Amino acid sequence: MQIVNSEISIQKTSSSRLKQQDINNIPFGKVFSDHMLVATYADDSWQEVKIVPYGNIVMSPSMSALHYGQAVFEGLKAYINPEGKPLLFRPQANYKRINESAFRLCMPSIPEEIFMDGLKELIRLDADWIPTQSDSVLYIRPIYFATDESVGLKPAKSYKFIIITCPVGAYYSEPVKLIVTDKYVRACEGGTGAAKCAGNYAGSLLADKEAKQQGYDNVLWLDGKEKKYIEECGTMNVAFVINDVVITPKLTGTILPGITRDSVLTLFRDMGVKVEERLISIDEVAKAYKVGNLSEAFGMGTAATIAHISTINYQGEDMILPPVNERKYASQVLQKLEDIKTGKVTEPYGWVCQL
Ligand SMILES: Cc1ncc(COP(=O)(O)O)c(C=O)c1O
Repeated sequence: MQIVNSEISIQKTSSSRLKQQDINNIPFGKVFSDHMLVATYADDSWQEVKIVPYGNIVMSPSMSALHYGQAVFEGLKAYINPEGKPLLFRPQANYKRINESAFRLCMPSIPEEIFMDGLKELIRLDADWIPTQSDSVLYIRPIYFATDESVGLKPAKSYKFIIITCPVGAYYSEPVKLIVTDKYVRACEGGTGAAKCAGNYAGSLLADKEAKQQGYDNVLWLDGKEKKYIEECGTMNVAFVINDVVITPKLTGTILPGITRDSVLTLFRDMGVKVEERLISIDEVAKAYKVGNLSEAFGMGTAATIAHISTINYQGEDMILPPVNERKYASQVLQKLEDIKTGKVTEPYGWVCQL
């Protein structure tokens, strides 16, 4: 079955795996829904877009993404609104970002019809896989990678764009503990920090492993030049509340421009909360902590939405932050964002995409 250009062919599974799963109770990223979208780029154009049963793909050991890392991805979620209809949260922003990441890695851009129409079609087809229990959602993972069968560093000529989905529960069950590292950096000026490319994550693993060995959940990353300014935490953007001002590192090109970050800042501003996007040093945070002005710290990202930070270890000392029930800013914005994402309240931003 072949359909050329952006028309999407659909081959439905003859044996859904849905009944064998308790989709409201699945560990993060372990079980995948029935179908996946696969689009192929070759001979300077997008060739074929299809939805097929989820399954293995054939690849050559010379496939260039495996050697040179031309691979980018996205992460977003589908929700069920109170009327039982599937919703996507800001998919257009993921579409824009995957092409920005692709541009940085010399990959051709993905047409909007393929990303957006393919995504919507896939979620409609697997809508029964969207969990209904609060805290559980359908996580969507678009991936885009080079498939040239050749060794030799150059931008590839052939690619695959695939979307897979998986029902997931809460990402973190507890507030997170962070440790500042000045041994490793996630990104540096001129690098790929602002792109959501696979290599950034591989490069972060050793720091993450060492953080966990020391009893922490994630690393609090500093800038790659002076190792002074805070950038991100784990795979989330980060914010601090100091003297009732929400402060988050500004997007300098080394930080991933998070969609949750943008949504949270927009909501805070509309709530009349003072927000600052600027350089913020770890010393400023430590000083604010010492004098009792640091009331909250939290991570922002699609997987967790908001992750309260309980502890930050800096230079061997733990800063222990106030308990979550005393935190008004992050908790309030989390509630607002969850109500918007799940269609419980209407929103003026055009973020929610009804299917
Ligand atoms: C490194 C990094 N920073 C920040 C984020 C948060 O981005 P978003 O809110 O778009 O999920 C993510 C997750 O995608 C990430 O991997």
